[in-house]
Amino acid sequence: ARHLLGIEHLAPDEIVTLLDLADTYATDTRAGRTHRDVLADMTQINMFFENSTRTQASFELAGKKLGADVMNMGMQSSSVKKGETLIDTALTLNAMHPDLLVVRHPSSGAVDLLSQKVNCAVLNAGDGRHEHPTQALLDALTIRRAKGRLHRLSVAICGDIAHSRVARSNIMLLGKMENRIRLIGPPTLMPAGISDFGVEVFDDMEEGLADVDVVMMLRLQKERMDGGFIPSEREYFHRYGLDATKLACAKPDAIVMHPGPMNRGVEIDGTIADDINRSVIQTQVEMGVAVRMAAMDLLARNLRADRASAVA
Ligand code: CP
Repeated sequence: ARHLLGIEHLAPDEIVTLLDLADTYATDTRAGRTHRDVLADMTQINMFFENSTRTQASFELAGKKLGADVMNMGMQSSSVKKGETLIDTALTLNAMHPDLLVVRHPSSGAVDLLSQKVNCAVLNAGDGRHEHPTQALLDALTIRRAKGRLHRLSVAICGDIAHSRVARSNIMLLGKMENRIRLIGPPTLMPAGISDFGVEVFDDMEEGLADVDVVMMLRLQKERMDGGFIPSEREYFHRYGLDATKLACAKPDAIVMHPGPMNRGVEIDGTIADDINRSVIQTQVEMGVAVRMAAMDLLARNLRADRASAVA
């Protein structure tokens, strides 16, 4: 593939190839082995039109670890503030001949549209409610490392499913790998027609968490609620926040995940988030760098092959 726009476009064998390479990068990084030759001839531009801590930092670190020239566009100080459109901004950057463009944008489909206008490889770092493919891939690698496999697991995705691109990408990835997916949350935060996607839907945490292997919590995404119903945080934590009582319904060795940023005391009790025997939240961040290294490495290989065949 030329771009990484969503999990929707990936076949199971492509997911496994990417995770295998990311696993090697994760092991090598822990052992202090470097790979600065992989993207040594490449320029990477990061364009984040929405706030980010984990995704932006890990894409930057991943590019630098592989030897790329990395530029972070400060979108707050760019000409977007003077009214320049997304496409004009992309065409301007494209004229500088980047090889890899990493884009986060608040509108669903914006990254896909942009990818049709440029000559380089585009990686979706999150577009609106649509997809966050590298998040689902890092979650998959974290699960595979913790559980020893990525199939026939029972995974609960809990909370604000309706506004979550993380949930959407994870539902697709975990479904493609033949896992059992349970969505738990208030009916007001559950997308209409979601049960058509081969998932089970619950609005009671204790019922939904019964015997699951993985508990994936999501943030209440108030910035995407467009003036609609916003639950009170106290009531939300009482019914849907992960605490010890609710977690006790899952398997005794169930892992706890959260993509971050996390609201302690809203969707998750801080004690559980920090419990190193259950929580793999810091491992998710660590795997994020490895997955982004693998994604950029594989896209760069395809880009070099395309360019070589265009010259031949
Ligand atoms: N998980 C995630 O996308 O975090 P950031 O918004 O901090 O990048």
